[in-house]
Amino acid sequence: MSEVNRFDVITIFPEYLAPLKLSLIGKASESGLIEIGVHDLRAQTTDVHGSVDDTPYGGGAGMVMSPEPWGKAIDLVAELSDEPVHELIVLTPAGAKLTQKVAQELTRSKHLIFACGRYEGIDARVTAYYQSQPNFKVREISIGDYVLGGGEVATLVIMEAIIRLIPGVIGNPQSLAEESHSLEDANSTLVEYPTYTKPAEWRGLSVPEVLLSGNHGAIAAYRREQSQTRTDKLRSNPEK
Ligand code: 6GU
Repeated sequence: MSEVNRFDVITIFPEYLAPLKLSLIGKASESGLIEIGVHDLRAQTTDVHGSVDDTPYGGGAGMVMSPEPWGKAIDLVAELSDEPVHELIVLTPAGAKLTQKVAQELTRSKHLIFACGRYEGIDARVTAYYQSQPNFKVREISIGDYVLGGGEVATLVIMEAIIRLIPGVIGNPQSLAEESHSLEDANSTLVEYPTYTKPAEWRGLSVPEVLLSGNHGAIAAYRREQSQTRTDKLRSNPEK
């Protein structure tokens, strides 16, 4: 059984996932810490036009993605991992909102399959079918209260949130513990304090004196207070 986390993405726009080759995720897959596959849904169509959608039963605007190509594609990618359970993530604005806690939970899954819907969504029987399968766990996830053209960008967001939490992906794990929304203390997540680097003065603006003091107790207290102030401000007026 593979020890690494495997990620498979099913989409009608495989090129949309090209950024997975870059930066942290690119390095993690090059080094073999994780495995990533991107799969074209149209490869599972049977008609000459490669149709993936059709008009909705009951009428209404837009098109709905047909269940058969999705079923074939998901069954095929499930076989790419010998894990006993596959976690299917269906990207939809109607899903549960992504949080740091969800990202943390998803790091425990050894095989994640991302189903990127487009148009007015995927035929609801696809989710229902895999929910009924003992070797699948299914989650519908949204990345926020706005509507995107499809799940591809949401998949990039979720994968980035998960992969940086996998041990070995980030060089200094301490930076994970100290950052915004760290779950060290899940009930009182604070956003990060402001950070500064050299030079000590820039365009007339100075770095707060306490950070240059070398007094670690005072620095920690200052940072805690800054995190608290920022968090209070966000909570009282989240749009600002
Ligand atoms: Cl996961 N998909 C789409 N199409 N729109 C979204 C979303 C997902 N999350 C927020 N908006």
